[in-house]
Amino acid sequence: MFNILRVHDEEQFNETGAAIIASLLQANPKAVLGLATGSTPIGVYNKLIQLYQKGLLSFQNVTTYNLDEYVGLPKDHEQSYSQFMKKHLFQHIDIDLANTFIPDGNSGDADKAAAHYNSLLEKSPFFDLQLLGIGHNGHIGFNEPGNELIGNTHVVSLHESTRVANARFFSSLEEVPTQAITMGIGAILHAKQILLLAKGKEKLDALQRAIYGPITTQCPASFLQVHPRVLILTDAEAGAF
Ligand code: PGA
Repeated sequence: MFNILRVHDEEQFNETGAAIIASLLQANPKAVLGLATGSTPIGVYNKLIQLYQKGLLSFQNVTTYNLDEYVGLPKDHEQSYSQFMKKHLFQHIDIDLANTFIPDGNSGDADKAAAHYNSLLEKSPFFDLQLLGIGHNGHIGFNEPGNELIGNTHVVSLHESTRVANARFFSSLEEVPTQAITMGIGAILHAKQILLLAKGKEKLDALQRAIYGPITTQCPASFLQVHPRVLILTDAEAGAF
């Protein structure tokens, strides 16, 4: 079931996203969070950092699991999601890095790394909140549209459109990895609560299909329709339906 919250400027978007996460952590300082990368959550992470710096929030006992990671980028590559999380959140807060988990995209055996991550997820308590972005093609995590979706953590070949969308972070399209490890749709749907962030008109169509379209593997985000507690935070452009 979806609740939709539309806000009208960037500041409100980021403050609202951060306030939802902060109130959860204030009520449950040992919360387990599923985290996302991409440009959309950066402002929300910034606001969380500010709340931490003001002494209003602590991550000391929080555990996090990230959705996905590119295959083949060294951990210290600036576009690896491991670096992203350090740069945009972890290095600024009091989280214990031993309690932060991201698939290992550079082990040399991506299938094994995916299976390992999956076993960590199976041992983890249900996530209190899963943060999600949405791809313009309707992907969540790196669960790309196709004839089937996979429940468990797995290796995925990135769609050309996803590589093109993410090329803005690399110096050329060729540099964008062709594969990633992603949490599957199963673990995403196990979270007690989902917060999906969508900003900009290029997300409007995907968001509309996710909410109002048929549940189909051609729009992985449409599977969120079966989840009992999904909050969608949009700006005016992504939410112009
Ligand atoms: P973005 O990515 O936040 O960079 O738009 C979202 C996604 O692809 O899930």
